Amino acid sequence: MLNSIVSLLTLASVAFAAPGAGLEKRIEFSGSHPPGFNITSIGILGTGCPPGTAYFVLNPDKTSVTVNFSDFIAEAGPGISISANRKACQLTLGVSVPPGFTFGVANIDHHGDYQLGSGVTASYQAIYYFQGQLVQAPASSSITGPASGEDYISRDPFDLASTVTSPCGVSTVLNINSGIRVSNSANKTASGYISMTSISTPNFQWRTC
Ligand SMILES: *[C@@H]1O[C@H](CO)[C@@H](O)[C@H](O)[C@H]1NC(C)=O
Ligand SMILES: *[C@@H]1O[C@H](CO)[C@@H](O)[C@H](O)[C@H]1NC(C)=O
Ligand SMILES: *[C@@H]1O[C@H](CO)[C@@H](O)[C@H](O)[C@H]1NC(C)=O
Repeated sequence: MLNSIVSLLTLASVAFAAPGAGLEKRIEFSGSHPPGFNITSIGILGTGCPPGTAYFVLNPDKTSVTVNFSDFIAEAGPGISISANRKACQLTLGVSVPPGFTFGVANIDHHGDYQLGSGVTASYQAIYYFQGQLVQAPASSSITGPASGEDYISRDPFDLASTVTSPCGVSTVLNINSGIRVSNSANKTASGYISMTSISTPNFQWRTC
């Protein structure tokens, strides 16, 4: 089930880790969060998630969200239009932040599947930023075929997770932009696709401020 893309993504993850940065101020709420935090609104918009193809599930205390997609797929190959090569979806989360706290996004879990002919490359990228801030934190990974995965699961940590944080103690808007892309430019006769079937954002990282 999980095969080569997982180990590739793990390698990419190592490259993105920023050990030690800001650790002294970080307070870990392992698997949890400070009281007063919750998600107050959700917007879903993009070429990968047109109306009617995405839906979300909030957990009961509104502290994490999973978005499922039925038509978030990028493909490339002979006869496939360039517009199908890349797809993206932006999640816009209204977030209630308790006084004295700030948070960043440690990582995002995403699921999907892929099938890549020889020389065809698929990539995933996510960026998150808070409304009104210029700083964005990226995470990305890629794999080149031949490869197939019925179901991949990956967890990409964000670069700068410790420095891109919400304004201190005020409610904010968190934008998470996820994109998938397939290129067959190295072998025009080959084809491939990658899909995203779900994204989950349970992994916020809290600190005092
Ligand atoms: C969300 O947090 C706000 C601010 O702390 C609080 O007033 C509200 O009741 C919370 N909502 C839920 C559903 O927990
Ligand atoms: C939505 O995605 C989650 C996480 O991948 C998965 O566990 C769940 O089964 C999906 N729901 C549906 C209806 O596909
Ligand atoms: C290009 O793709 C075709 C069709 O999948 C395959 O037969 C061929 O071996 C590939 N060529 C290279 C150089 O990978």
